[in-house]
Amino acid sequence: MSTAITLGQFIIEKQADFPYAKGELSRLLRDIAIAAKIINREVNKAGLMDILGNAGSNNIHSEPQQKLDVFANEQFISALKAGGECCIVASEENEDIIIIDPPDRKQGKYIVAIDPLDGSSNIDVNVPVGSIFSIIRKSNDVDPCALSDVLQKGHMQVAAGYIIYGSSTMLVYTTGKGVNGFTLDPSIGEFCLSHPDMHIPEDGNIYSINEGHYVNFPKGVKQYIKYCQEEQHPTRRPYISRYIGSMVADIHRNLIKGGIFIYPATASSPEGKLRLVYECNPIAFIIEQAGGRASNGHGRILDLEVSGLHQRTAVFIGSINMVSQVERFLKEAA
Ligand code: AHG
Ligand code: MN
Ligand code: MN
Ligand code: MN
Repeated sequence: MSTAITLGQFIIEKQADFPYAKGELSRLLRDIAIAAKIINREVNKAGLMDILGNAGSNNIHSEPQQKLDVFANEQFISALKAGGECCIVASEENEDIIIIDPPDRKQGKYIVAIDPLDGSSNIDVNVPVGSIFSIIRKSNDVDPCALSDVLQKGHMQVAAGYIIYGSSTMLVYTTGKGVNGFTLDPSIGEFCLSHPDMHIPEDGNIYSINEGHYVNFPKGVKQYIKYCQEEQHPTRRPYISRYIGSMVADIHRNLIKGGIFIYPATASSPEGKLRLVYECNPIAFIIEQAGGRASNGHGRILDLEVSGLHQRTAVFIGSINMVSQVERFLKEAA
């Protein structure tokens, strides 16, 4: 068995083409990986610790914060503060941006937007959850960093990734030169390259959507679901419906097997539920880099204007043929 390539080695050896000095990327990913390892430890023994259930507070989305939401958020913020490469942290769990400007060293040039714990509703029932991160460079080196640095379009990201705390813990990321997956080897505490150069199949037969909202789905989405339920898949067995309720887990499954993940506008979320800055843009970057498509139903998610830190969007993300097909249904139904 060849020796494992760790995340740190991979960045130094294989990511020399990172658009900025590769040292900064490796330090940023190191900081994120440190937080992920600590969160992983707590997730793996959640039932034995006082880390399950509600923290007793709500976040800006009036979601009851789970203890693990708060814990994960604290881990990412402190790891990024300690690492020194980041000047702003934007988090699902914080209403405003967190500016990091230590008095004793030069301020970092990067913004990190995070969903510290994705799929919180699954924590207490031992179903995979994740963390999502997006790395953007300050828009210029002159002005002090500000919210405008965060509200850049998704195609301005320099890196994006997610961690999935599942049957194994994986970190999957891109810097715009393809997608690579690393599995945590707990015996050495390192993320090791396990899924080099990941590609999402052009087609698939898995559709992933919360059909509980069916009544209020847009007409084109209803027609697409009916198509999946009634058409025999051209090359494989009929379409399969799979919905985990953690975006990271649903996306990761589709990245490996092919499929489409849909969270459209619904009555309770007329703009869509998922947040553009720290859920949809990073996931869209990854899936596009893996050869898939990431749309809001009408166009690229990565081209959407970003006007608010917690702005939401509808998402249709996955195998390029499946996303293009549902876009056709939406266009015809409009
Ligand atoms: P988060 O736990 O970070 O708030 O995200 C939850 C999101 C996403 O992970 C998942 O796809 C979606 O909420 C599930 O929403 P429904 O429960 O409405 O299906
Ligand atoms: Mn949440
Ligand atoms: Mn989330
Ligand atoms: Mn979250």
